[in-house]
Amino acid sequence: MASILVLFAHPALEKSRVHRRLLDAAAGLPGVYVHDLYEAYPDFDIDVRREQELLLTHPVILLQYPLYWYSTPAILKQWQDLVLEHGWAYGRAGTRLRGKRLQVVTSAGGGAQAYQPGGFNAHPVTDFLFPVEQTARLCGMEWLPPYVVLGSHRMELPEIDAAAAAYRRHLEQLRDTLPVPAEAP
Ligand SMILES: Cc1cc2nc3c(=O)[nH]c(=O)nc-3n(C[C@H](O)[C@H](O)[C@H](O)COP(=O)(O)O)c2cc1C
Repeated sequence: MASILVLFAHPALEKSRVHRRLLDAAAGLPGVYVHDLYEAYPDFDIDVRREQELLLTHPVILLQYPLYWYSTPAILKQWQDLVLEHGWAYGRAGTRLRGKRLQVVTSAGGGAQAYQPGGFNAHPVTDFLFPVEQTARLCGMEWLPPYVVLGSHRMELPEIDAAAAAYRRHLEQLRDTLPVPAEAP
């Protein structure tokens, strides 16, 4: 059983330069299960029970997507709206995600200069992830520092390959530092 679930969302993977390679770097890594939401649900007809089952069986959940309009691609919003049900993910009886770890893995066209006070986007990129962060907290999840690739518009292939290799190392480290689950009595 994989320990890390990567929920991947890119609506135009055939045009991707960055996530295509990040995905290739994650593919086949033991302990990491990549679930491509646009591939699984081209009509946005999300199988809520299947998604909840995937969440239950993984202690670490990564949301991997390109930053689109300072937000997530549409299917990830649909996924949040349908899968994170009241009484399951949040609310008095909604405790199923408590204690799990959540990390956003995203890329942005804008560079570090654009994502700072006084820059083109006026805020650090993490500010734009706040709705996801607060959603994780509402569900009792531990929010891990986001993994962000900035300046993707200007990245040349060798830089992208280096980012992909770094991402693979990041996944390995995350997997290898997970607490070992207690043996059933
Ligand atoms: C519809 C759309 C919206 C985008 N919105 C943003 C944005 O809000 N901020 C930003 O820095 N880059 C934005 N970008 C740039 C993407 O984040 C960037 O192209 C992507 O991270 C590169 O990854 P890829 O090669 O896997 O597509 C946008 C791109 C598209 C196509």
